[in-house]
Amino acid sequence: MTRPFATAAALVVALIAPAHAAPVYATLSGEAPLVIAHRGASGYLPEHTLAGYELAIKMGADVVEPDLQQTADGVLVAIHDATLIRTTNVADLFEPRNGGYRVADFTLAEIKTLTALPTRTASTSYPGYTPSMADPFRVPTFEEVMALVKAHNQATGDTVGIYPEAKTPNSFAMNAKILEQMQAYGFDGSVPNTFIQTFSHEGARQLAGMQDILAMDNAIAALGYVIKTGDAYGVYDATTQTVSALDDLAGFADGLGVNLGYDLDAGFIEAAHALGLAVHGWTFRPTTPEAAEAQFLPWIEAGMDGFFTDYPALAVGALDALAPSQVPLPAGLPLLAAGLGAFAVVRRRTRA
Ligand code: G3P
Ligand code: CA
Repeated sequence: MTRPFATAAALVVALIAPAHAAPVYATLSGEAPLVIAHRGASGYLPEHTLAGYELAIKMGADVVEPDLQQTADGVLVAIHDATLIRTTNVADLFEPRNGGYRVADFTLAEIKTLTALPTRTASTSYPGYTPSMADPFRVPTFEEVMALVKAHNQATGDTVGIYPEAKTPNSFAMNAKILEQMQAYGFDGSVPNTFIQTFSHEGARQLAGMQDILAMDNAIAALGYVIKTGDAYGVYDATTQTVSALDDLAGFADGLGVNLGYDLDAGFIEAAHALGLAVHGWTFRPTTPEAAEAQFLPWIEAGMDGFFTDYPALAVGALDALAPSQVPLPAGLPLLAAGLGAFAVVRRRTRA
């Protein structure tokens, strides 16, 4: 059905709007999707390093993501795997312990002797970027990551968020430590675009309850894999091998971090938005601007609220290239005349 009144009125509204008004997106907030630097700028520099996070911020990421594990002496460090073997030179410096190289079997002092290695497409340098820190490729503590982001925000007035992931199994003690440290660094709910995430939906519920007690208000994100049964969407929790219904998740979470495969589609985003849940997809790994635009466009149109990506520069570039266009006033004047003419015709027809 055509809606001539709406069309003519929309034209007029568009033309009298400020020439550089912000584009409108189908996200929950109406703002552009968040660029979430997955493990830092991990497509370019070693993942989960201070240099990787710093480069991501310089590239314009809205949020940086540290995955969190605990050392033998109970320190939260930013590293994805439960072991040190894939991302560091631990095997060159230490014998295996308990049959392997688990983060939980090494002290922070030992881990600080390691060098983080580039993985996938990453390198140890990035053109035009010089790390500001003396030792850019160590395994950082969570506190060091927060100190970096906080210092950037204070120096620039930016509001870069953090998206820490409590890697499973995340105990009550680990969750308490995460919240205590976030509060100490000012990530108490007052820094926009800050989420705490976990694959354990019970862990996410626990974090939400603990924040209430601590008077903290960071957004909570439950991670998983979209499953559609009939018309109903759910998110698979691999830690319990159960599917959580969206309305259950909406009882304690603010967002869902979901794998890009399985049953994820525009209908899922619509259903999540109807419950007030933001949707952040992982993991976007385009390696050229063309691939980035092709990968991000359908999800921008579907209203996805954030993109976990190893390539924040490409995500920022694609969002700039694909931003909904505004009609600048001077160029829009002929259109304004046409719109008002159409409006008059419709009014005459309606009266007739
Ligand atoms: O946390 C979102 C995404 O990072 C989940 O995947 O395995 O990279 O932590 P993973
Ligand atoms: Ca993660």
